[in-house]
Amino acid sequence: MQSPIIGVFDSGFGGLTVLRALLPLVPGAHYVYLGDTARLPYGAKSQVTIARYAVESAAFLEKHGADLLVIACNTATALALPEIHAAVSIPVVGVIEPVVRAAHLQHPKAEVLVLATSATVQSHAYMEHCRALGLRATEKACPLLVPLVEEGWIDHPVTRDVVRIYLQEALETCTPEAVLLGCTHYPLLASLIEATLRELGSQAVVIDSAQSTAAEVEKHFSRLQPVSTSPVTFECFATDSVEKFQRLGGLFLQKPIENVQHLDLGG
Ligand code: DGL
Repeated sequence: MQSPIIGVFDSGFGGLTVLRALLPLVPGAHYVYLGDTARLPYGAKSQVTIARYAVESAAFLEKHGADLLVIACNTATALALPEIHAAVSIPVVGVIEPVVRAAHLQHPKAEVLVLATSATVQSHAYMEHCRALGLRATEKACPLLVPLVEEGWIDHPVTRDVVRIYLQEALETCTPEAVLLGCTHYPLLASLIEATLRELGSQAVVIDSAQSTAAEVEKHFSRLQPVSTSPVTFECFATDSVEKFQRLGGLFLQKPIENVQHLDLGG
């Protein structure tokens, strides 16, 4: 049988954390990853701009043969999911619903803290999904984290200070049982976030969207067809430097990334 092609999209490297979770879960697939690094960060932009960028990326991946699209970006999921659905004719999986469902399964009726980009927080997409399942959510915008992660400043004194300040501010307003990483860049900071929570006296568990989103995609393919036995392959496209994508992308994917091509999606 033919291998399914799975398109994975993020504004930058963050979606590679979702791709990392997907690779072992849907074996036999060919993955096409697109990082719109030239136009990142999405999280500081308006809804109209985010939707335009996200639709262009989604259309590219569909044209490139994707059978299913994973929007591995919380900001694009929160602000552009209806526009993406309307623009393509393949199934689309976003990152927000799966992680909120996973949090609800593990901690029904819990108070949760959502860390996300400014645009995601302003959309209140998490708040609404949480409310629908009976979870109480506090949303905290952490606009400095994406640029720090994109710089590769994972274990850096500045990043440690910034994380502490954001969490301190958030914990003044809530006592969460779970902290949802509402941005696919944040799993790289998961250990730092967890350690900082403990230092600040919180026992909240940290949940990211990678595993739950990958599980959703796996369900889709196991419903549709038997799993192909051919090996997993992937190729990447970046709208900015290929060299930087290869260098930093490996951190996110935790394996070397060789097959990267430059893509110009315009301004
Ligand atoms: N990784 C994206 C997300 O999950 C955000 C990055 C950005 O601001 O572009 O929200």
